[in-house]
Amino acid sequence: MNEPAATQPLGPTNRNARPVALITGASRGIGALTVAEFLRAGFDVAAVARSGERLQALAAEAPAEGRVVPVPLDITDSSALMAGVERVERELGAVEVLVNNAGYGLRGAMEDVPREELEKLFLVNVFAQVEMTQAVLPHMRRRGRGRIIFVSSVQGRVVIPFSGAYGASKFALEGAADALRRETRLFGVEVVLLEPGPVATEFATHARSLSDEILNNTASVYHRAYATYLEKKREINRSAVAPEKVARLIAKIARVRRPRARYRIQRYAWLLPVLAVLLPTRLADWLLMRPYRKAYRSSGAADERATPRAEGGEGSCNE
Ligand SMILES: NC(=O)c1ccc[n+]([C@@H]2O[C@H](COP(=O)([O-])OP(=O)(O)OC[C@H]3O[C@@H](n4cnc5c(N)ncnc54)[C@H](OP(=O)(O)O)[C@@H]3O)[C@@H](O)[C@H]2O)c1
Repeated sequence: MNEPAATQPLGPTNRNARPVALITGASRGIGALTVAEFLRAGFDVAAVARSGERLQALAAEAPAEGRVVPVPLDITDSSALMAGVERVERELGAVEVLVNNAGYGLRGAMEDVPREELEKLFLVNVFAQVEMTQAVLPHMRRRGRGRIIFVSSVQGRVVIPFSGAYGASKFALEGAADALRRETRLFGVEVVLLEPGPVATEFATHARSLSDEILNNTASVYHRAYATYLEKKREINRSAVAPEKVARLIAKIARVRRPRARYRIQRYAWLLPVLAVLLPTRLADWLLMRPYRKAYRSSGAADERATPRAEGGEGSCNE
């Protein structure tokens, strides 16, 4: 794992006495708790999300010595995003730490995810994160310091079946963040990826409801596998880490003198990527699909597959 070079310690660089952090996805879950951690750590915070009311509530709860500026906007709206960052710079000063945390999940087999849903997902989970980064980078470069923290996922390292769209978006985010880290380090900007496994927030409930149409489609050849998948998800989510722990880690990454390129928070998030590297891909595929074999057999998916194989079309390819 590459260790970025030491930078100057972060500190106030604007007309406020306190440094400024911009946190996206701040209306609930990891983001809302991260706002609280940053306030405790001495930052003023620009809190970005669509739900203005929740952001107002966060601002009202802020301690007297800290400021939370609610910035209600949809990060997929380019002009709102630019105007939001300009407002933050005007009201609080230049952004010292950006936490790209907003994001959502989508469930379903790749074959079942409509292109529009895929585009929407990538807009939020990838393109908007890059655009937000582009908006704050000029100030960071000019000052020769700044920190950008991307909240990715263990699924940005290993994609599990039926979470492919979400995993692909986090893989794309990891690629963008890796490039940014290398490109901006010489300007004194640190780019860090955080790759949590399951975290106990409303994330899973939202992902489930946004994927209802896909998962409830009884005509899908994957329909039976979805029941197994959801059961497995519930099992995995039982070991979800508390979001407070993630928020504390983000605040720590913002202040540590030499941040690592990547952070993981639970054993599961360490284990999966290591196994993915050590195991032959075909073996990893087999292990990840093992729970679904029965569902595939009973749904007739295996029979559908038999025809092209018998004709020698598929199955002969080694990749
Ligand atoms: N929870 C987990 O198991 C888990 C695991 C690994 C990684 N992560 C990652 O952690 C991050 C935070 O997740 P969470 O668990 O805290 O989820 P969450 O509770 O569902 O919060 C998601 C946040 O993103 C915001 N958001 C979504 N779409 C947006 C948009 N278009 N514009 C602006 N804000 C938007 C939401 O606010 P509004 O709806 O108000 O806009 C909300 O504040 C995500 O990137 C997620 O991929 C989560």
